[in-house]
Amino acid sequence: MSRNDELIAAARAARASAYAPYSKFAVGAAVLDEQGRIHAGCNVENAAYPQGWCAEASAIAAMVMAGGRRIMAVAVCAEAPEPVTPCGGCRQKLREFADDQCPIWVADLSGLRATHTLGSLLPHSFGPEHLT
Ligand code: THU
Repeated sequence: MSRNDELIAAARAARASAYAPYSKFAVGAAVLDEQGRIHAGCNVENAAYPQGWCAEASAIAAMVMAGGRRIMAVAVCAEAPEPVTPCGGCRQKLREFADDQCPIWVADLSGLRATHTLGSLLPHSFGPEHLT
């Protein structure tokens, strides 16, 4: 299995852990860090609906906790009529650790549905280098 396939498999597995009793929309995400490690996460909702967070945010937090500081690739897995891309807020969260060329693999339970780059999803973005 290629590393990309493993990343997609990790996102799919993470989706199974989603805590989404309100939206019933389970999402898993996985990021590949600069050391080649995979970190996964799921969406976590709560009764104060807007306070929940996305699978991508969970995966980023897992990476940072493990000492990872760069995202080389991202996989997202959800079940929907259209492939599920990261929401706007998550695109910015990913931008902190990834460059424009970073691939974003979008999958559902039947496999890979679409491939994007962070730069295509969040063009002309604001990032940490603007603050230096
Ligand atoms: N969600 C994610 O976790 N990632 C995405 O890329 C899109 C949306 C979650 C947030 C919320 O828990 C549920 O999906 C419905 O919006």
